[in-house]
Formats: sequence, structure tokens, C-alpha cells
Amino acid sequence: MTGPILSARGVCAGYGDFQALFSVDFNVAPGEVVALIGANGAGKSTFLKTLAGLLPLRSGTVEFDGRSIAGIPTYRLVGHGLAMVPEGRRLFDGMSVEDNLRVALDRARSVPEDTPEWTLDRLYALFPILKEKRGHLVQSLSGGQQQMAAIGRALMSQPRVLLCDEISLGLAPKVIREIYDLLPEIRQSGTALVLVEQDVSLAQKAADRLYCMLEGQITLTGRSSDISREEIAAAYFGVHRAVG
Ligand SMILES: Nc1ncnc2c1ncn2[C@@H]1O[C@H](COP(=O)(O)OP(=O)(O)O)[C@@H](O)[C@H]1O
Ligand SMILES: [Mg+2]
Repeated sequence: MTGPILSARGVCAGYGDFQALFSVDFNVAPGEVVALIGANGAGKSTFLKTLAGLLPLRSGTVEFDGRSIAGIPTYRLVGHGLAMVPEGRRLFDGMSVEDNLRVALDRARSVPEDTPEWTLDRLYALFPILKEKRGHLVQSLSGGQQQMAAIGRALMSQPRVLLCDEISLGLAPKVIREIYDLLPEIRQSGTALVLVEQDVSLAQKAADRLYCMLEGQITLTGRSSDISREEIAAAYFGVHRAVG
């Protein structure tokens, strides 16, 4: 059993006077898939942004590969292998699919010359539609294709941890399935996946472990296969059941 590649302890963060996260503990191991679920406004995106160095820690610690990320700018974290597929994708409009993918190479984690995990060829094998559309402007792609491009761009940075914020949002069920079916191949090389997901059953199927967040706090965590629907519902909505 290897230790976590990314871990958070007692993380508090927020915006101005507003505290959005309250003492969040979290970890993910290499090659593990962990899902973070919770209602709209629970703090999931805020937590991912904090992990990625986009939002400062107010207290607590985040360690990536055994080192504190505090004060390290996001682009340098990307260079160390901590990548994010942000909410809303944020592709570079006005650039082709392939140029969007190539941009990530500039900031990629340096790996020995001839062994990058993710090359354009491997990415195009994973997402054949991106190869077909490689010369097209990203904004001309469908939502699902744009999401694939956003995931592809993040993979080109050779991540050891990939943070994904609601990659299924607004996509047709068939496209969601297509994307989720590819996650095993992404983790297979040892990349840890953190999936923020509003679709609980999708999260439970895809992830080894789940964290449920409610109003900025983790209300439930455990192995996906060990957690019941009732426990999730209680943690998700804050329903307190009588014990005994
Ligand atoms: N940029 C911001 N400025 C102020 N408050 C914010 C900002 N972003 C999010 N919030 C607030 O922080 C809380 C958590 O939001 P968020 O992390 O986006 O939740 P989730 O991703 O789980 O839907 C919400 O109450 C939201 O209104
Ligand atoms: Mg969000």
C-alpha cells in the first residue's frame, strides 16, 4: 500500500468574509480514483481550487508528493504533475484542438526525454474524434468533444494527479458513458483521479472511494462499495437519522 500522492488536512478556505471550507481532510493514492460528491454550493469546486493552488489556504495543510503546496503558484504545481480540468472547461477559443493540446506541453511535468506517458498519438488513440477534429477551432466542437479536449489538454501536462470538476455536466448520457469508460486507461499509468461529480451513482460506479461534502464539510467518506444509498442520502442532504 503506497502513501497518498495528494493529501489535505484541516483545510479551511473561503472568499472574503465567507468561509467555504471547514477543516477538510482528504487524500488520494497513486492510481486511485476518488469521487467528491455533494449538492450545488457544497464547496466542491472551492476545494479543488484550493488543492490546485488557485485559492489560498486559510488554515490546514495540503501536501502533494510529500511537499506542502502552500505558496507554490498553480503553474508550478502543474509542472510537478498536479493538473485540473476546470469547471466549464476553459479551453482557448480561437485556437485549434491540437494547439490547445500542445499548449499544455510547454508547462508539462518534465519526464525523461523519450518516455512521456501522454503523447498526441496516445491521446488521439484515446479520443479518436479529437484526431479527426484536430485542425478545427475548439469552439466549433460539441460540448462532449470540448470536454474531451479539456481532459486531453490536462493529460498532456503528464499529470500524476488529475482533478476533474464536473466533467459530465450538461453532456448527453451516451457521451458521459464514453468519457467515464476511458477513466480506467487514464488511471492505469498511475495517475490519481479526483472526480467532482453531482451524479451520485456515476460517482459510486467510477470511484474506489467517495467523499461527500455538505456546507463545506466532509460528511461521509469510505469505499464506494461499502457505502449505502441511505448513508449517501443522509450525508448529501444533511438528514440526521436516529440511531438504534
Ligand atoms: N468566487 C466566489 N466568491 C464568493 N463566493 C463564492 C465564490 N465561488 C463560490 N462561492 C461560494 O462558495 C460556496 C461553495 O461554492 P462551490 O465551491 O462553487 O460549490 P460546488 O462546487 O460544490 O457547487 C457557495 O456558497 C458559493 O456561493
Ligand atoms: Mg462546482
